[in-house]
Amino acid sequence: MTNYKEIGLVNTRAMFAKAVDGGYAIPAFNFNNMEQLQAIIMASAETNSPVILQVSKGARNYANQTLLRYMAEGAVEYAKELGQKKPEIVLHLDHGDSFELCKSCIEMGFSSVMIDGSALPYDENVALTRKVVDYAHQYDVTVEGELGVLAGVEDEVSAAESHYTKPEEVIDFVTKTGVDSLAISIGTSHGAYKFTPEQCTVDPQTGRLVPPPLAFDVLAAIEEKLPGFPIVLHGSSSVPQEDVDIINANGGALKQAVGIPEEQLRKAAKSAVCKINIDSDSRLAMTAAVRKALADKPAEFDPRKYLGPARDRMKELYKHKIVEVLGSDGKCE
Ligand code: G3H
Ligand code: 13P
Ligand code: ZN
Repeated sequence: MTNYKEIGLVNTRAMFAKAVDGGYAIPAFNFNNMEQLQAIIMASAETNSPVILQVSKGARNYANQTLLRYMAEGAVEYAKELGQKKPEIVLHLDHGDSFELCKSCIEMGFSSVMIDGSALPYDENVALTRKVVDYAHQYDVTVEGELGVLAGVEDEVSAAESHYTKPEEVIDFVTKTGVDSLAISIGTSHGAYKFTPEQCTVDPQTGRLVPPPLAFDVLAAIEEKLPGFPIVLHGSSSVPQEDVDIINANGGALKQAVGIPEEQLRKAAKSAVCKINIDSDSRLAMTAAVRKALADKPAEFDPRKYLGPARDRMKELYKHKIVEVLGSDGKCE
C-alpha cells in the first residue's frame, strides 16, 4: 500500500473548495504516454496551476498501471525541477467501473478516484458509490460519483433531456453516498463527435456547424440544490477546427467533428463546475502535429522529430485551456 501523500500528490478536497469559491475550474487532463504527461506538467508548472492527471481504464491497459503511477510520481519532481514551488497534482482514476479497480488504484497511490455507476439503476449506483467512498475515505482519497448519462452522438439533443442529471436526485445521492464531487450530464459527451449535423445550426459566415448550448438551466437547478458543492463536467473538449483541418489536410479523415464552444466552458468554470475533463483535444493536437511533421518530412524516422512537435502543440493547448478557458493559472501557492 502506497499512500499518495508519501509521493507528493494531493487529493481534490481543498483544491475544489478554492476553485468553487474563486469561480474557476481545475483542468483534468487524461494521459497515457510520456509526451502528454510532459506537456501537461510543463503547462501547469509554467502557469502555476493545480492539475488533475487522469488515468482511464483504457490508459491503464495501454500503458501499464504501475508505470503510469510512477510517471505521476516523477511528474511531481519534474514540476519542482521546472521551478514550481508547491505543485498541486492529483492522480485520478477516470471512469472507474468497479469497487476492485478503485481499491487497486488507491493501494497504488492514486489520490482520487471516480466510480462511474451512472449506467446502473439509481439504487445500485448509490450502493456501489457508497462502498467506494467508505474505502477511499479511510485513506483520505477523494471520490467523484456520477448521476445522469452523457448523451451519445446518436441521441437527439431535444430528446436527451431524460439523460440529463435530474436535479431532484442530487441531494439524496450526495447525502447517501458521501461523494466529494459529482459529475453531471448537461449536454456534453465524450469524443470528437459530440453532436450530429442535424443537432447543429450552420454559421452562415464560415459554413461551420454550431452546436446547441449546454443545459445551463439544469446546472443552475443542481447548484440551487447543492450550494457550493463541487460539480464535474466530462466530455469538455472543444475540438479545435484548426487541428481538425491540419489532420484532414495531411491525410486524415475527420468528418464534421464538433465540440463544446469555449465560451460555454468559460461560463461553466465560473459556476460550481470546478473540474473540467479534456482528453479528445489533446489527441487531436497530437495527431495534427504528428501528421504534419511526417507529411512535411517524409524521410524522417526519428520519433523525437514528430513526437517533439506533438508535445509542443499539446503544451500550447494545455496552457490555453488553463489561462484562457478555466482560469486556474496562478492558483497554486
Ligand atoms: O472518458 C473517456 C476518456 O476520454 C478516456 O478515453 O477510455 O479511450 O482512454 P479512453
Ligand atoms: P472529451 O472526450 O470531450 O475530451 O472528454 C474527456 C472526458 O470526459 C474524460 O473523462
Ligand atoms: Zn469522462
